[in-house]
Amino acid sequence: MEYWQRLEHPANVLVCGASRGIGLALSEQLLARADVARVWAVARHASQSADLAALAERHGDRLQRLDLDCCDEAALAALAQRLRAVTPQLHLLLCTVGVLQEGAAKAEKSLTQLDLQGLLATFQRNSCAPILLLKHLLPLLRGRHPCTVAALSARVGSIGDNRLGGWYSYRASKAALNQLLHTASIELSRLNPNSCVLSLHPGTTDTALSKPFQANVPAEQLFTPHFAAERLLAQVARHGPEQTGSFWAWDGQPIAW
Ligand SMILES: NC(=O)c1ccc[n+]([C@@H]2O[C@H](COP(=O)([O-])OP(=O)(O)OC[C@H]3O[C@@H](n4cnc5c(N)ncnc54)[C@H](OP(=O)(O)O)[C@@H]3O)[C@@H](O)[C@H]2O)c1
Repeated sequence: MEYWQRLEHPANVLVCGASRGIGLALSEQLLARADVARVWAVARHASQSADLAALAERHGDRLQRLDLDCCDEAALAALAQRLRAVTPQLHLLLCTVGVLQEGAAKAEKSLTQLDLQGLLATFQRNSCAPILLLKHLLPLLRGRHPCTVAALSARVGSIGDNRLGGWYSYRASKAALNQLLHTASIELSRLNPNSCVLSLHPGTTDTALSKPFQANVPAEQLFTPHFAAERLLAQVARHGPEQTGSFWAWDGQPIAW
């Protein structure tokens, strides 16, 4: 049965990384659904996003915008407390937070370009942030209600699929994310038998994150955020507790760890 058919009540959804890119498109498509009660749109600068402001105008208080750095555990604890004050359950938790090249984080082509700062900055955002988000929101996920947790990984995080090399920090941080999510899926299935934890690859998508690396991407292989979001929500819909702890691409193909 599809995820949406398993819900007994309209879904409470949280999208972390919602101010732009794929997270923004996911928020927009979720708000268009009658079986979604409310979307919490979280990002460091959610309140400054003109696109989220436009969505808020259309959807009123079904959209709640929250400024939060999800590498900040005190802020995550406050977020969990705030959510628990208004709802006992979260049905869908999507994390699109990620970095490839920004600040200390670098898309290294060679070992000589690696440094500790870059590695740590990338791991902090790509591996630690999504799993800390899950840790703090766990009280809203445990129980028996259908709940899916999906974080955006990347095909380049697959060790089995790595033939080109390069992008050391990004690849390794996504591989670590996959392991963290797989491990969490085992614990979560004991705490909620109707849970499903997924690592998802959105495909190369035209966003700020991929902009500097789009030159050699054929036009038909560069997705719009709208298309990527549609395909990712299709993966959420078709996977349930039986597939928890797995890694999927936008087109429904499984990806090797
Ligand atoms: N685009 C691609 O081609 C592609 C391909 C494969 C995988 N992915 C993965 O897909 C995910 C989404 O990518 P995207 O292209 O949509 O990225 P993006 O356009 O850079 O968006 C990232 C989102 O995360 C938020 N964010 C970043 N750091 C945060 C933090 N510490 N706390 C809270 N929010 C934070 C950003 O908002 P603020 O700046 O307001 O915080 C923004 O809303 C990433 O994990 C990426 O690795 C993307």
